Amino acid sequence: MEMKAVVCERYGPPEGLALREVDKPEPAAGDVLVKVLATTAHVGDTRIRRADPFLARLVYGLFAPKKNLVLGLELSGVVEAVGQNVTSFTAGDEVFAFTGFGLGGYAEYRCLPAVDNGRVQRTGLVAPKPANLTHEEAAAVPAGGLTALKNLQKARVGQGHKILINGASGSLGTYAVQLAKHHGAEVTAVCGTGNRDLVVSLGADEVIDYTEEDFTRTANRYDIVYDAVMKTSAARCRRILKQGGVFVNNSRLPKIEYADLLHLKDLIERGHLRPVIDRTYPMEEIVEAHRYVDKGHKRGNVSITVSSTPPPAA
Ligand SMILES: NC(=O)c1ccc[n+]([C@@H]2O[C@H](COP(=O)([O-])OP(=O)(O)OC[C@H]3O[C@@H](n4cnc5c(N)ncnc54)[C@H](OP(=O)(O)O)[C@@H]3O)[C@@H](O)[C@H]2O)c1
Repeated sequence: MEMKAVVCERYGPPEGLALREVDKPEPAAGDVLVKVLATTAHVGDTRIRRADPFLARLVYGLFAPKKNLVLGLELSGVVEAVGQNVTSFTAGDEVFAFTGFGLGGYAEYRCLPAVDNGRVQRTGLVAPKPANLTHEEAAAVPAGGLTALKNLQKARVGQGHKILINGASGSLGTYAVQLAKHHGAEVTAVCGTGNRDLVVSLGADEVIDYTEEDFTRTANRYDIVYDAVMKTSAARCRRILKQGGVFVNNSRLPKIEYADLLHLKDLIERGHLRPVIDRTYPMEEIVEAHRYVDKGHKRGNVSITVSSTPPPAA
């Protein structure tokens, strides 16, 4: 059996992505087979497409991408079938997933391990989808939501902390602002002029417009600086940190657990967190979607509709 998938055929610009027919995967004993309804054009996908950093080639192919390399760090869809050992999911369940660096969201089907075996980076995590989100919204949660959550956990954000979030209007930033507010922190969001209203709507207490002011020169002092957009450095931020203050920037994250994905689902269903969706493209327009993300100015996330047809009821 075959399925449609976007294959990364050349490293470089988005034109290296092409819609192809590839083999449909079959679930192993511990797997769920997910019919993918939505995925995202994630910054991580665009970086693998560009082979940035160069070392990505050690994983995805040295001179050219390995055969049938399917990007897609995250997805949302419906379980079509389960392996014989799977008891936690049944056909018809709505799920969302972090595919990790095994990737595979840009395809009509993806097999994922139903049981958390602790090897997230290669195998992926799949959990019941937040009931109050569309598939296009749910697909945009795992990668950005988990990364922002782990950064804030690492920084030990808590009640009354003053946190500055640089790049507050991007995928990580929009999650981080909401998560920091949920933990009782006082949030200063750094973003461009056109995104002021967005970050305030997410809960930011103060806004610094990076086109008008260098936030590293402010007279204020923070317990935490989270450089979500990775445009500054610990050295440059030292003077705005209180004594004992913490700088984090997506590097050296604590291990991502299955419980983290369930935690995000719970926060979303209780109304404490929502994904911001900038644009949605059909999978056939993946090249345009990547072009847009490459510009570096998306607000929140860019979703991709893979299919609007769930599998027939089991
Ligand atoms: N998303 C993830 O899950 C993840 C995980 C690990 C690492 N990372 C890395 O973290 C970085 C950010 O990822 P992302 O997905 O959040 O990026 P993104 O969504 O593409 O970030 C774009 C946003 O950043 C803002 N921005 C651009 N330049 C800025 C600057 N100098 N100062 C403040 N804001 C600026 C833009 O606003 P304007 O239009 O106003 O400029 C735009 O809203 C990337 O380097 C990515 O590789 C991401």
